Amino acid sequence: MKAYFLVRNGAADKAFELRDLPTLKPKAGEVLIHAEAFGLNFADVMARLGLYKDAPPLPAVVGYETVGRVAEVGEGVTNVKVGDRVVALSRFGGYAQAVVTDARATMLIPDDMDAGIATCLATQYATAWYAAEEMVRLHEGDHVLIHAAAGGVGIALIQMAKRRGAVIFGTAGSDEKLKFLKEQGVDYPINYRKVDFAVEIKKLGFDKKIDVVYDPIGGESLKKGMTLLTAGGRMVTYGASSMTEAKGNPFKILGVALGFGIWSPIEFVTTSRSLLGINMLRIADNRPEILARCIKNVVELTASGDLKPVVGKTFPHTQLAEAHEYLASRQSIGKVAITW
Ligand SMILES: NC(=O)c1ccc[n+]([C@@H]2O[C@H](COP(=O)([O-])OP(=O)(O)OC[C@H]3O[C@@H](n4cnc5c(N)ncnc54)[C@H](OP(=O)(O)O)[C@@H]3O)[C@@H](O)[C@H]2O)c1
Repeated sequence: MKAYFLVRNGAADKAFELRDLPTLKPKAGEVLIHAEAFGLNFADVMARLGLYKDAPPLPAVVGYETVGRVAEVGEGVTNVKVGDRVVALSRFGGYAQAVVTDARATMLIPDDMDAGIATCLATQYATAWYAAEEMVRLHEGDHVLIHAAAGGVGIALIQMAKRRGAVIFGTAGSDEKLKFLKEQGVDYPINYRKVDFAVEIKKLGFDKKIDVVYDPIGGESLKKGMTLLTAGGRMVTYGASSMTEAKGNPFKILGVALGFGIWSPIEFVTTSRSLLGINMLRIADNRPEILARCIKNVVELTASGDLKPVVGKTFPHTQLAEAHEYLASRQSIGKVAITW
């Protein structure tokens, strides 16, 4: 069994090496999965660039999700059995032909579910479910602003917000993505490279009328989004993609950090607004039952056709470097998946 090890930070073609994996054995409560596919997440790009604080020390196998068949179960595992086809969240270790992970983060999937579609579920869709169904409750007519809306988490958020009848503002960085957002049902697609999203939303007549902002960009984007919130409004922050632009420049990194703004709890009370943070790894570590619930819901709703994950591109594993550069290039729409 082999895995792609991240061996050095930097350009994707020099960053990964295919190496043998040591024999893996599931402990109590764990499962061993033989993988057919895995997915890329933007956090993997951050890890490759050395910008991801939670990433394990190198050499390391990164990757959060795997699709495949259960090959062995540890003591006490009852939710899946050997031979079952599953999708699972792994705490790193995903770029591998064999993955050991917590059984609670492992969910049965139908045999006819496309492997690429399944790679969308354990991380991006589970994160979106937590953000749109657990942490925040969306109501019909709510005004919801989704940044990086054509990305993996973004599309999931659109579909979940639409299920609740929200009015959606979605930002992305190209006209091709804007066309896609319109097709996904986004009411107000905004190309943030052409217009300032906050100015545009004000022009459209929604100044201080946004109920929820989903922001994985961070820095100035978060600060500007806060100004759009209505009373009762919530800012959900779950990433800092803008750090990639500041890479290697300590002043720019400081600029992004300061760009978030400095917030006083008193202001949150007086204006009745909230700032909420998500880190699904912390949820996986400390509240695995929540993660299990999120994965279960998105698997079931995908199997029933209520949610429709979008796979932008699937690469064979031999093109992992190309796939990484593609995701980092900001051209991708939806999931970037890898097959073994
Ligand atoms: N906190 C958590 O637990 C958690 C879990 C999952 C994902 N996330 C975060 O959610 C975000 C989306 O993840 P994903 O895997 O679904 O990726 P993705 O959205 O499929 O890909 C990233 C997209 O972000 C957009 N983007 C906007 N500004 C950017 C910038 N300054 N630098 C780079 N990209 C920028 C790009 O599209 P446009 O430029 O066209 O908008 C790019 O295509 C990431 O920030 C990720 O770290 C957090």
